[in-house]
Amino acid sequence: MTLFAPSGPLRGELRPPPDKSISHRAALIAAMGVGETTVESYLDAGDTRATLAALRSLGVAIEELGPSRAPGGFDVRLTGIGLHGPGERFASGAGPSAIDVKNAGTLLRILAGWLAGQGRGTWVLDGDESIRRRPVDRVAEPLEAMGATVGCRDGRLPPLRVSGSTLRGTSYRMPVASAQVKSCLLVAGLLAEGETQVTEPAPTRDHTERLLAAAGADVFGEDLRTTPLVGAGPTRRITARHADRLLPSDIAVPGDFSSAAFPMIAATIVPESRVRLRGVGLNPTRIGLLGILNRMGAALEVQEDATEAVEPRGEIDVRHGPLEATRVHAEEVPLAIDELPLVALLGCFAEGRTVVSGAGELRHKESDRIASVVAGLRAAGGEIEATEDGFCVTGTGGLPGGRLDPHGDHRLAMLGAIAGLASRNGVEVAGPDAAAVSYPGFEADFAALLEGGSPPP
Ligand code: S3P
Repeated sequence: MTLFAPSGPLRGELRPPPDKSISHRAALIAAMGVGETTVESYLDAGDTRATLAALRSLGVAIEELGPSRAPGGFDVRLTGIGLHGPGERFASGAGPSAIDVKNAGTLLRILAGWLAGQGRGTWVLDGDESIRRRPVDRVAEPLEAMGATVGCRDGRLPPLRVSGSTLRGTSYRMPVASAQVKSCLLVAGLLAEGETQVTEPAPTRDHTERLLAAAGADVFGEDLRTTPLVGAGPTRRITARHADRLLPSDIAVPGDFSSAAFPMIAATIVPESRVRLRGVGLNPTRIGLLGILNRMGAALEVQEDATEAVEPRGEIDVRHGPLEATRVHAEEVPLAIDELPLVALLGCFAEGRTVVSGAGELRHKESDRIASVVAGLRAAGGEIEATEDGFCVTGTGGLPGGRLDPHGDHRLAMLGAIAGLASRNGVEVAGPDAAAVSYPGFEADFAALLEGGSPPP
């Protein structure tokens, strides 16, 4: 247990660590490509290290070039093995090859799409206890419809066994809005005959589309007409056509908006705070939290950098201020999916009742995040209730404090820590080291902001 005691203001500037989602994809797509690709500012964290280890085991040469200019990352050079590389390198007559994805759901789902389209080979993708509770039928079913040979435990859980097969393009309407499923199918679509179309019920993060298009793949998205139904948002259809090869471009990974969200929210709820976040990824499909914060009346300014890059980035300046409750509905959920637990924390500090609905997907993350955020914030004195697909929080102007067990979930551990800083009596967090899965240097970054806020001796 580590106690996060009520703190003084947070002040200063911070560069969040490199983006986790983009790091995974940059490495995977570089591996599928032809020739060398340099990824600048690759996230140095548990999840993204798992991706490099998995790629090495497939025969990808990876050279770590040293720490990146941005903290929390390193520069890395990958030599692609080509779209058909894993199958070509699979020793004939060998048994299934084991791949450990550790805690990384993105790796598990996207890699499955690549391996499913290989000329030969069988791989068994498995990970830690948390990954073993996360559904993979959502990728297994559409992959099978493309002709893939896949199997999973009890028909829906890892280990996921994938054998290389000949794939054909498909048209798939995703029942849930998931960027991981979409990415898996788009990658499989590159290897399939013809065209693969994925329709998402609401737009999800589009990093895969951007990186694949930058690598020369014929991948594009179209907004479909909005159905005039209450609560129905615009849907989007993404098409990937068969590719013979990818020529990935070098990329500099921007700071992770989902990691930046922790200092952003801490500055919003700890009195007298003011924090400037620099180099933050501002991809429109990731920043739903900014819209939610605006509705809540948070004191926030955003400035996008003028550079032309595959992924936009910029600065966020955030100050403490009073908050009003808000409602978050289904179509906004994918754009803020990993930040929704933080919306619950904000709700504790807001005037009125904050309601998040249409977020049943939270039950399938590193933990059941509806159950864990409700249990965690209640244990810290918050007034929060779970619903089937979200939660309701009654703002009481603060949080008394208590104990929070994040059940090994990195984002819950960090939420507990900032809840403690903003609480009246502090919050004890079990296993705060889980933060290292996505945010190296989390505690050091906060220590620096707290030091920036304390008056000189
Ligand atoms: C991710 C997509 C989201 C998100 C996860 C990372 C990605 O998951 O929650 O942390 O990198 O594609 P889903 O696609 O399952 O919603």
